[in-house]
Amino acid sequence: MFGRTLRALLSLYFSAAANAHPAAKYARVVDSTTVSKTKYDFIVVGGGTGGLTVADRLTEDPNTSVLVIEYGPFDQGEEDILVPGLYNPGKYLWPNIFSTSQRALNNASSFVPMGAVVGGGSTVNAMMFRAAAAIDYDHWERLGGWGWGWGGMLPYFKKSETFTPPDPEFAKKHNISWDASIHGYDGPIYASFSGYDYPSSKNFWDAAVSLKISQPEGPQEETGSGLCVLLRAMHPETKSRSYSRIGHFVGYVSYFDRVAKARSNYHIITEHAVSKILFDKRKAVGVEYISRETAEVLRTKVKKEVIMAAGSIHSPQILQLSGIGPKALLESLKIETIVDIPGVGQNLQDHLDLKINYTCAYTLLRTRGNNIALLPLKNSTTLSTYDTITLPPFPPQSTYPSVIQGYDAQRQLLLDSYASYQTSVGSISWDTGPQTTVYMVKPLSRGSVSINSTSVLDKPLIDFGAVTDPTDLDVLLALSRRNREITATPPMQALGPVEGAPAGGIADDDADGLREAIRASLAPTNAHMCCTLAMMEREMGGVVDGDLKVYGVEGVSVADASWWPVIPAGAPHASIYTAGEREYLNWNSVLTWFILSCGPC
Ligand SMILES: Cc1cc2nc3c(=O)[nH]c(=O)nc-3n(C[C@H](O)[C@H](O)[C@H](O)COP(=O)(O)OP(=O)(O)OC[C@H]3O[C@@H](n4cnc5c(N)ncnc54)[C@H](O)[C@@H]3O)c2cc1C
Ligand SMILES: *[C@@H]1O[C@H](CO)[C@@H](O)[C@H](O)[C@H]1NC(C)=O
Ligand SMILES: *[C@@H]1O[C@H](CO)[C@@H](O)[C@H](O)[C@H]1NC(C)=O
Ligand SMILES: *[C@@H]1O[C@H](CO)[C@@H](O)[C@H](O)[C@H]1NC(C)=O
Ligand SMILES: *[C@@H]1O[C@H](CO)[C@@H](O)[C@H](O)[C@H]1NC(C)=O
Ligand SMILES: *[C@@H]1O[C@H](CO)[C@@H](O)[C@H](O)[C@H]1NC(C)=O
Ligand SMILES: *[C@@H]1O[C@H](CO)[C@@H](O)[C@H](O)[C@H]1NC(C)=O
Repeated sequence: MFGRTLRALLSLYFSAAANAHPAAKYARVVDSTTVSKTKYDFIVVGGGTGGLTVADRLTEDPNTSVLVIEYGPFDQGEEDILVPGLYNPGKYLWPNIFSTSQRALNNASSFVPMGAVVGGGSTVNAMMFRAAAAIDYDHWERLGGWGWGWGGMLPYFKKSETFTPPDPEFAKKHNISWDASIHGYDGPIYASFSGYDYPSSKNFWDAAVSLKISQPEGPQEETGSGLCVLLRAMHPETKSRSYSRIGHFVGYVSYFDRVAKARSNYHIITEHAVSKILFDKRKAVGVEYISRETAEVLRTKVKKEVIMAAGSIHSPQILQLSGIGPKALLESLKIETIVDIPGVGQNLQDHLDLKINYTCAYTLLRTRGNNIALLPLKNSTTLSTYDTITLPPFPPQSTYPSVIQGYDAQRQLLLDSYASYQTSVGSISWDTGPQTTVYMVKPLSRGSVSINSTSVLDKPLIDFGAVTDPTDLDVLLALSRRNREITATPPMQALGPVEGAPAGGIADDDADGLREAIRASLAPTNAHMCCTLAMMEREMGGVVDGDLKVYGVEGVSVADASWWPVIPAGAPHASIYTAGEREYLNWNSVLTWFILSCGPC
């Protein structure tokens, strides 16, 4: 009870404070000559979703100077980047990065999709925009730091967003519900609904309703389960991408362009790869970075902090190259250890993605669909199948005792989630196409990222460890059976679907056959990689503390999805903006201390 009051009070305080926007001045894109003449307070490594958010917040103070170093170029406002229906982001992805052979997926290796462009993932992603279940964030708080739960994050979800409700007629026709009180109305990212629905989306919706898959009773953002219409990071009028980089349209603001002409204290250099952090003993004093054009190796100093925001694959890679990571790995490559933190690169998580193909009696337009069923484990199948899921205990896998302890703690919370109606373990989305995607969003398996050379330009070994915990495969099995139940209802049967790859023709009760089919076609990634520099205690395999500062060194913090201890059930990028909004409010910790020490007063 006290916790709730405290949260309410803090939410009030934070939202009041969060609305203050100091006026901005001038700014620019720079080259390495300018960089060499400037000494920055902060250097942000990677100008992606999280990186540009913290850079924007920090440069609100005209006395704080910030340099962002980004590997990719600026996009050119291409239609296939901006217009959802023309979506084709391939040219701005990191090319040729594949995972290691996935031992539980018949040794297949998988392409690892990541943005290599200013704006990072937010420039290339599918624009799905939503918060996960409240309890997912509460688990961050329990594993890591105070204030990262739903109550602490809500004001920043609001601050990052300009939400536009759907047209009332459209909303009524498509039964779209939302809770106005948990959305924001003047933040940098536009969130809106598509104004059009694909004809066969309705078949899926009606099919789900006929199986009593309920719509969320409260706001979908808090219950995190049920049948929902998808919200997109999209401008409500131009219907084009809203992202951390650019605005091509009048009234269309986002993180970078809002300040591009405004702040002299804010520099960005593109097409350069940061190769390591430079230390004086254990204090970060600068970075080394490489021109992609000339291969010239450059160095620049930093006064206060290096902020890691190169994404959940490259941030641990760069820390390991800098001497922060598991000592044995660093020694094997003759890298001097600055601090031995086994957790750097461990705990890799992602959503699993299973595509199920159909042939239909009619030709259907290939789309991504507009709705999704988010399913708690207990709703994903009949109770008898739930009982057969091999829940505990499969030992968590890692070479490092501290990391195993952390996995154990996560596992307890995940088992709570599995028993709950307040979050989902998986989701089912009819892509029309004709195809269904089944997602498993609360995996127990864990993977890792490890450097394989001393060069940042070589790819690290990316092992998703997909379904190495057999429970994850059983949950996918349950979800794909649920998908069959949906397809078997009259609204879907009206389309005449015949299931094809991967499991068409395999009987429902042939569990082994279905598992094998899933293994043979499961993608270990949905491009939602996270959690490789986890916010947990160091003794639990953690890498950063509750203020997102890396343990054991001075002046290194993390602002991308790497710091999450455990993957939330929803599309991730909204949460990255939120965390970036919150990260550099230094009075936070003071206020926290003050309120907590005041006790139940
Ligand atoms: C194809 C695709 C579709 C997706 N669809 C969705 C979706 O619909 N909804 C959703 O919520 N999420 C989606 N995601 C995921 C989401 O976009 C990411 O989770 C999010 O962008 C990650 O943010 P980040 O800040 O952690 O890293 P990023 O946004 O990836 O930023 C990292 C940046 O660092 C740069 N970088 C890396 N190494 C270096 C280096 N050595 N030096 C300098 N810079 C470097 C990269 O080029 C990149 O710009 C999708 C992702 C992809 C790739
Ligand atoms: C910036 O620094 C100058 C000189 O030290 C000081 O006068 C001014 O108040 C500072 N501005 C802010 C917003 O802190
Ligand atoms: C996967 O690779 C390992 C090691 O090379 C091998 O032992 C195993 O038999 C392979 N599995 C399959 C299904 O090919
Ligand atoms: C519309 O939503 C309400 C509650 O949100 C629900 O009771 C009703 O069943 C829904 N109708 C359809 C057709 O989905
Ligand atoms: C899940 O099942 C419970 C209990 O039958 C029901 O109350 C709830 O509405 C269901 N949720 C979904 C998303 O179907
Ligand atoms: C890892 O490095 C070794 C030695 O340089 C090389 O042979 C191997 O191909 C690398 N592995 C990958 C997956 O890049
Ligand atoms: C499913 O269909 C898509 C689109 O036709 C195709 O690209 C894909 O290879 C198919 N999947 C399988 C496993 O056959």
